[in-house]
Amino acid sequence: MAPRITVIGTGYLGATHAAGMAELGYEVLGMDVDPDKVSVLSSGRSPVFEPGLEELLARHLASGRLRFTTSAEEAARFGDVHFLCVGTPQKKGEMAADMTYVDAAVDALAPHLDRPCVVVGKSTVPVGTAARLSQRLADTAPAGEAAELAWNPEFLREGYAVQDTLRPDRLVFGVRPGGRAEEALREVYAPLLGAGVPLVVTDYATAELVKVSANAFLATKISFINAMAEVCEASGADVTQLSAALAHDDRIGGRFLNAGLGFGGGCLPKDIRAFMARAGELGADQALTFLREVDAINMRRRSRMVELAREQCGGGFLGRRIAVLGAAFKPNSDDTRDSPALNVAAQIQLQGGQVSVYDPKALDNARKAFPGLNYAESALEAAEGAHVVLHLTEWQEFRELDPLVLGERVAERRVLDGRNVLDAERWRAAGWTYRALGRPQPE
Ligand code: UGA
Repeated sequence: MAPRITVIGTGYLGATHAAGMAELGYEVLGMDVDPDKVSVLSSGRSPVFEPGLEELLARHLASGRLRFTTSAEEAARFGDVHFLCVGTPQKKGEMAADMTYVDAAVDALAPHLDRPCVVVGKSTVPVGTAARLSQRLADTAPAGEAAELAWNPEFLREGYAVQDTLRPDRLVFGVRPGGRAEEALREVYAPLLGAGVPLVVTDYATAELVKVSANAFLATKISFINAMAEVCEASGADVTQLSAALAHDDRIGGRFLNAGLGFGGGCLPKDIRAFMARAGELGADQALTFLREVDAINMRRRSRMVELAREQCGGGFLGRRIAVLGAAFKPNSDDTRDSPALNVAAQIQLQGGQVSVYDPKALDNARKAFPGLNYAESALEAAEGAHVVLHLTEWQEFRELDPLVLGERVAERRVLDGRNVLDAERWRAAGWTYRALGRPQPE
């Protein structure tokens, strides 16, 4: 009989994983301690903006394969394979990850696990967590060692979560030698493995490290090109041409080589910090000191954007109106966690500028995170009377803006492209002063 699946934690990762598992044909029970989330999901709505997710939820609520609950006991009794998808945010005032939710999920499930099952961690965790949780399960589940732990890190990107879940680049199973978790996971993922998705089977520690090192590499790649942008700014070179030329080398590749305002979100920034903290605990801090630079380069891009905006405002923000296009940490997402765009907007407001922020999907989250900023309902409204327009999150909607139409609304036609994607010639032809990070200013 096909295994029954539970998914503990129904945020970006868990909601998508639950719906994805139902799409693969399984009976799925999603569990979350937040009753509001459970009722929203049970009505077929997604608590987050994620393209394609609501369709998948609706399909499988209707097919009867997908349900949600707040009861850990019900989840424990229902599932043969339990996926842990809870968050591991950065601890307040520290670099390390907060493991409260992961530990609480295991503690809620374990007392009810009285038959053989597999508990599969998907969250991004400090290396060593799986070994610790495996022991905790063995000690506290009535099934003892028959409640087996596996680590199966998740690599999905927000905005592409559904597609990344159903067609991942690879699967990684971290398992205990001699256990039955590998076989159980091979069965669950059979539709993907059969379709040719590569599989790497490892021990626990390696599986945990694959995830954090992947995110560390991606963050490093972005900061590398942003460091080149700094040198380009100092030397009059153009980082977009530089990165296009580098990308022709297959060994380097062009993805994640877009210079601009840098990385944000709920993953890359906190993951590199937690990775450094964990390496420190293990006595391997020297190995990761470069990540401190990666973080510092990334944060400098935000200050540089504020500096450029100040320059464009004539040296100070007082009495100046600044339109900010974008609030999400990246396009196709409503997530504003550690958003570079909102960070820049807040810095400018703090320095006396009158900021007006617009984003196609992230305004609700932005209002909650930064209630003191002013928000507009459209790009045109944000641009009303602006002395400078800052393009900080590269939504398609912003690429398609007509600079002539926008030009009618602003006080001064000045645009700063924080993502290097607007068509500079088109904006200049419409009478705008166009400036971007890492690119020369024509005479
Ligand atoms: C990231 C990883 O890409 C996923 O593989 C991983 O599963 C996920 O974290 C996670 O750990 O859960 P995500 O946070 O959704 O995914 O966002 P990315 O697409 O990686 O973008 C991160 C940030 O980098 C964004 O702020 C984006 O604007 C920025 N970025 C990306 C650049 O500044 N330049 C680039 O060339 C690419």
